[in-house]
Amino acid sequence: MAKQKISFICQSCGAVYQRWQGKCEACGEWNTIVEENAAGGIAGGPQRSRRKGTPSALLPLSGESEEAPRIVSGIGELDRALGGGIVRGSAILIGGDPGIGKSTLLMQGAAALADRGHSVIYVSGEEAIAQVRLRAHRLQAAQSRVLLMAETNVEDILATLADAGRPDLVVIDSIQTLWSDLAESAPGTVTQVRAGVQALIRFAKASGSAVILVGHVTKEGQIAGPRVVEHMVDAVLYFEGEGGHHYRILRTVKNRFGPTDEIGVFEMSDIGLREVSNPSELFLGERNDKAPGAAVFAGMEGTRPVLVEIQALVAPSSLGTPRRAVVGWDSARLAMVLAVLDAHCGVRLGSHDVYLNVAGGFRISEPAADLAVAAALVSSLSGAALPSDGVYFGEISLSGAVRPVAHAGQRLKEAEKLGFRRSVLPASSAELPRGRDMRVDEVSVLPDLVAKVAAGRDAA
Ligand code: TYD
Ligand code: MG
Repeated sequence: MAKQKISFICQSCGAVYQRWQGKCEACGEWNTIVEENAAGGIAGGPQRSRRKGTPSALLPLSGESEEAPRIVSGIGELDRALGGGIVRGSAILIGGDPGIGKSTLLMQGAAALADRGHSVIYVSGEEAIAQVRLRAHRLQAAQSRVLLMAETNVEDILATLADAGRPDLVVIDSIQTLWSDLAESAPGTVTQVRAGVQALIRFAKASGSAVILVGHVTKEGQIAGPRVVEHMVDAVLYFEGEGGHHYRILRTVKNRFGPTDEIGVFEMSDIGLREVSNPSELFLGERNDKAPGAAVFAGMEGTRPVLVEIQALVAPSSLGTPRRAVVGWDSARLAMVLAVLDAHCGVRLGSHDVYLNVAGGFRISEPAADLAVAAALVSSLSGAALPSDGVYFGEISLSGAVRPVAHAGQRLKEAEKLGFRRSVLPASSAELPRGRDMRVDEVSVLPDLVAKVAAGRDAA
């Protein structure tokens, strides 16, 4: 009889330990380590096999190859995030908080593909067939020719798929419900999730069917997170949204067949997700042009320019240590901009509370937002509103210099399209469109910007 092999596995990152401990040293999470019987599972390491290996063919690198064949759903924002469509034979992980709309997105995507004549199988491990049908009805997709299966056992799923021929797409909702006969630990644990996902990826590669895997992200770590399978799949997308806002962002974090940092933007309505093909209009929303402390940042998300409003509020503090609260941006980056304003521009905010908010709940990761943040801060402090038709972008260095950023031309073009007529950007920005209906103010050091904003006129 095979010896029982007990391991202690972190449910958040998959690290394996010999004995239980409260904190995972690999990822720093607490209370995520769970005892698992790893015999037969991946965590048990390579199994000793009696089978003699069969030699495989060795091929030269310079062989025939073609552009990855893609199937297009026709939902523009979904195709965009996937790099132009779903690559046949690929495995894609879509992660996100429970309730964010993953099942909704995938049902709409599945229906769109089926309407275009592709064969699609939707495997629901979380909801009964009746529930899935109800959702499809609400999404006005009940007439589409998507085939449903309510199953959680990997071997049964694979057997059904083998009988079904080679579907173009298989959706597995979700990986946390998968369990395999081969792994002996409880469903939802790292060993089970990895074993199940590995079998499905093998199926994808062998059959040429694309497989989309849904994974819930959990903070508690009691259910194995999608992170443990991220490196196994070809593409990883996260579906995100801010509580209280209706829009959702599908963000690509890994893609073996396309660009990363691409986003698809959707809005949740009562009949499902609606594409938002011009996100700038959404994020600029109801803007109050006259208020001090608001600056429009011309940003880039992947290959697409996105305009967002950055709001700052600076107020004298009654606390010993003034407050710094940031929503939608990196707080370390804010501290840096504040330090540069202090050291090189004489703008002292050491006794002020500073609140910074990116409108609409959007999240910015680009350093190019530095200049817009500085403009918003100085505008709030001085009480002088910035011109309502101006946009800002540029990276600030610790020396106080304003450095050029990529895609200046594209940012300006988007701003112009949305009716902006002035821009403040780094000196010596390359590829600027000339002869346009846009006034361009170049700044090379941060004090130039501060002087412009504080003067309250001619600002942008
Ligand atoms: P769901 O797709 O079930 O989320 P997930 O699979 O990520 O857990 O979506 C759940 C939420 O979406 C739920 O709170 C209701 C809302 N919703 C709508 O607002 N409109 C719709 O048309 C649908 C289907 C769901
Ligand atoms: Mg769901």
